Amino acid sequence: MTDPGEVAVIGAAGHMGLAFSLVLANAGYLVHGVDVDEETAGRIMSGEVPYHEEGAQPVLERALATASLRMGNDLSVVSRTKFIAVLIGTSPDESLTPRMDALHDLADDLAPHLAPGHVLMLRSTLVPGTTDNIAGRLAKSTSLEVGRDLHLACLPERSVQGRAICEMPTLPSIIGAYTREDFDVVSRFCRTYSSGACLQVTPLEAEFAKLMTNAARYVQFALSNEFALISAPYDVNINRIMEAANTDYPRLDLPTPGLNVGGPCLYKDSLTLADGIPWNTLTGAALGVNESMPTRAVRRLGEYPDVKKVAVLGMTFKAGSDDTRNSLGPNLRDRLRKAGYGVVCVEPNLEGYDDLRDIAGSDAVVLMTPHDEFGDWTVVRAHVRNARCVYVDFWGRWEQIRYRTRGGFWQDGVE
Ligand SMILES: NC(=O)c1ccc[n+]([C@@H]2O[C@H](COP(=O)([O-])OP(=O)(O)OC[C@H]3O[C@@H](n4cnc5c(N)ncnc54)[C@H](O)[C@@H]3O)[C@@H](O)[C@H]2O)c1
Repeated sequence: MTDPGEVAVIGAAGHMGLAFSLVLANAGYLVHGVDVDEETAGRIMSGEVPYHEEGAQPVLERALATASLRMGNDLSVVSRTKFIAVLIGTSPDESLTPRMDALHDLADDLAPHLAPGHVLMLRSTLVPGTTDNIAGRLAKSTSLEVGRDLHLACLPERSVQGRAICEMPTLPSIIGAYTREDFDVVSRFCRTYSSGACLQVTPLEAEFAKLMTNAARYVQFALSNEFALISAPYDVNINRIMEAANTDYPRLDLPTPGLNVGGPCLYKDSLTLADGIPWNTLTGAALGVNESMPTRAVRRLGEYPDVKKVAVLGMTFKAGSDDTRNSLGPNLRDRLRKAGYGVVCVEPNLEGYDDLRDIAGSDAVVLMTPHDEFGDWTVVRAHVRNARCVYVDFWGRWEQIRYRTRGGFWQDGVE
């Protein structure tokens, strides 16, 4: 069991679990992937990368050719490995309450397989206090003393989906450890695959550091959206305003506003951080601003009485991704339908929705996700073939109309 060349990754068929497994296989480990999703695990073992992840295909092929990646659904495999990394999903439930039940259950299921010397690293994004809870559960259900027999750490995953394999080998590791020895063991492990610094904090601090990282970005995007909304009724162009304010000014770096600020990390982690705080939080206000963007777009479209058919470009939560989790694309589609519009959706990364020709005859086109495939407005316009079409681009991506839009809207044929 003490073979340092073997590692178990629990949640290995998921977006981040697969990326981490591949990075570890690439670093020379024999990786035992464990996942309840046997179908996706099977696709991975047959050589298919199931998600958009830059650089994953050759690494997977190499891992399979050298038999350094295995997949299964049997937790007892951890008895072969010293290191165990947990990267299972931590989505909130239907009532938007963050839940850690799956992690608690996993800790209970893992307990009979744990032995002295094991290093258990929680890489999933956690509600503050989860590592303490798991330490308590393991103390009750095993004879192991955390910090002496069992090394337990919160080691939050902070790489970006889609570029995780590129980022993991260089990002710093925030290691939430109870003891110096735990930190030393985990940092030695991190140094085998990453050149980034190892930073010691407590488990609770590591949990907060991860949530705050994403909430900070989410609030920043909300601020840009709010600025766009505030200036929309005036005869101004938000792209010119932001460029003027940002240019060569060292204390400002406003991101562009955007209709689709969501996804499995920024939205979820902001929700988790703001959950249960008994005052009106900045993070909570950011959720209000970003989540209301589709409603605001539908309301503004109501000012154009001739608009009957609306094309929504992009269903995934960010450009270049095939992931629709917490994307506001489906939200906008449903709101438009409810408001009585005919709606056509185009998404280059989803089969059956990838034909731009479907937007012919649209009265309005909304750029929801700024995929490269939608990057050239003249191409989009050529497909629309409607000289009075309304174009909605909050992102300011369409160069040709970037400085002509008011509040993100521009109507063709009307100067
Ligand atoms: N997606 C991102 O951009 C990103 C970035 C950084 C951190 N994270 C965090 O990483 C974690 C995983 O996110 P993800 O996007 O990869 O989720 P995901 O849903 O893509 O993957 C989770 C995987 O865990 C598996 N799983 C669930 N319960 C299991 C169990 N009991 N035993 C074995 N396998 C189990 C699922 O089948 C799935 O394959 C989350 O906590 C998330 O917040 C995600």
